[in-house]
Amino acid sequence: MTEFEIAKKDLITNGFLDIEVDPTLDLVEEINKLKKEKNAIILAHYYQESEIQDIADYIGDSLGLSQEAATTDADMIVFAGVHFMAETAKMLSPQKKVLLPDLKAGCSLADSCQPNVFRKFKEKYPDHVVVSYINCTAELKTLTDICCTSSNAAYVIDSIPKDKGIIFAPDRNLGAYLIKKTGRDLVLWNGSCMVHEIFSHEKITKLMIRHPEAKFIAHPECEEHLLEKADFIGSTSGLLKYTQENAADTFIVATESGIIHQMELRSPNKTFIPAPPNNICACNECPYMRLNTLEKLYLTMKYELPEITLEDWIIEEGRKSIDRMLEISKAAGL
Ligand code: 13P
Ligand code: SF4
Repeated sequence: MTEFEIAKKDLITNGFLDIEVDPTLDLVEEINKLKKEKNAIILAHYYQESEIQDIADYIGDSLGLSQEAATTDADMIVFAGVHFMAETAKMLSPQKKVLLPDLKAGCSLADSCQPNVFRKFKEKYPDHVVVSYINCTAELKTLTDICCTSSNAAYVIDSIPKDKGIIFAPDRNLGAYLIKKTGRDLVLWNGSCMVHEIFSHEKITKLMIRHPEAKFIAHPECEEHLLEKADFIGSTSGLLKYTQENAADTFIVATESGIIHQMELRSPNKTFIPAPPNNICACNECPYMRLNTLEKLYLTMKYELPEITLEDWIIEEGRKSIDRMLEISKAAGL
């Protein structure tokens, strides 16, 4: 068997093509060649490592990435992000080949809401509209009326008639934030993101004392006690925009630290301090997002594996909730 045949056989166990890459190869050049040859587009989330962001055709938050996946005319979408994002791209462009460099790039939030358990939970509220954060599995989307991201969640909630009950899944922190922001009484699923829940209140307070001029900015997946301290709360693209537009020159950033690369590129004279987590690390990285590497990206594009495939019924049923979200976003000018 060739090295490729062995790697292909082991793909399910490893999650990625475990093939040694020639260390003398210029990966950036090779990836750019493959992009042209295969009419491929690389979509990267802000939480990817900087060298992946630098080679991507489009870098964005979950909303921007879905909008791009829905409209691209590339034949192949290479997703530098996590599994639920690649699944969403496949649902939006089912005729295209969608690749994810490492199938084990999952998400603690998506894992915290298993469809079989959620189905039973939903039965308790038969008249409620189900709004799910896009950070959920494709199957959960089939049980959802409208998806949302952190950029458009408040617009999605506001689009639902006032007399309708709403279940919000899977992020309890984003849900609690939305209850405050929209004044609606949401039934919350008890899930959370492991990255946004381990910020240290104590260390952040000390940083704020040390840098009284700094703005503290946070993603709404953070816990309420942190959001209460924030000068600004927003999605990754919202946080990025705020750092570009606000006059302050120092920002303490409570989200995955990958976003700081774009903040530094767009505001080179400003200082960005990653909010520290409750462990020995100085900054907070998502272990799933960071499974993607330049080597895996190259192998994925070369061999067109691992590919995301979904059953037809999941695409048909799940897509409705994403289309609804995209319609609401368009009407809101997002
Ligand atoms: P946004 O991209 O909507 O800001 O969400 C962040 C996130 O956690 C993605 O996994
Ligand atoms: Fe999931 Fe959190 Fe990682 Fe985003 S940062 S992919 S929500 S675990």
